[in-house]
Amino acid sequence: MTLDQLRAEALVCTACTLSDRRTNVVFGEGDPLSPLILVGEGPGEQEDKSGRPFVGRAGQLLDKALVEAGISRAQVYIANTVKCRAADWSTGKPVNRAPTEEESQVCRRWLIPQLQLLAPKVILCIGAPSAKNLIRKNFLITKERGLYFPCEFAKTAIATLHPSYILRQANMGGDGGYGLLVADIEKAWAAAQKLAEKA
Ligand code: URA
Repeated sequence: MTLDQLRAEALVCTACTLSDRRTNVVFGEGDPLSPLILVGEGPGEQEDKSGRPFVGRAGQLLDKALVEAGISRAQVYIANTVKCRAADWSTGKPVNRAPTEEESQVCRRWLIPQLQLLAPKVILCIGAPSAKNLIRKNFLITKERGLYFPCEFAKTAIATLHPSYILRQANMGGDGGYGLLVADIEKAWAAAQKLAEKA
């Protein structure tokens, strides 16, 4: 199975009800040979529209943080734990929501083979749901972000704050944790490069 074959299968997935209302499956993109993969939570409105991960407001902040950490988006691979947008449609107008535990579990059928095919040196989990999915169920993002953890799908995994969370905090003044996001990306990239040199 190649990454393109896996993507082709994922694009027509109907394994959960998120497929009923999606516009696009957001499989992931970037350099498949990169030693670093970033794994977010799941697509929002802009990602659903475009089929690309992290292209909305949170994505723009992530891009800025990547550049500030000395790398560009093209140098990494970016994916999500859940490949279709989770939204609450009860008012008629979709409002983004976190994917349920069941939706995340069902979508592991794409995430796990994707990680196995990419075989990154380092996984940077963007936000708590990704860290809970890939590092440990009871992961504590505020206490444990920026630390290395063993991971079945890479040499090591690190988690950082989600840019959407940072945007919400920043509205209350301060940088909302943006500096930590940049520092965690720098750390993950340095570790990925070091591990890639050794290989
Ligand atoms: N938030 C995520 O976790 N992933 C995206 O692709 C966009 C926003």
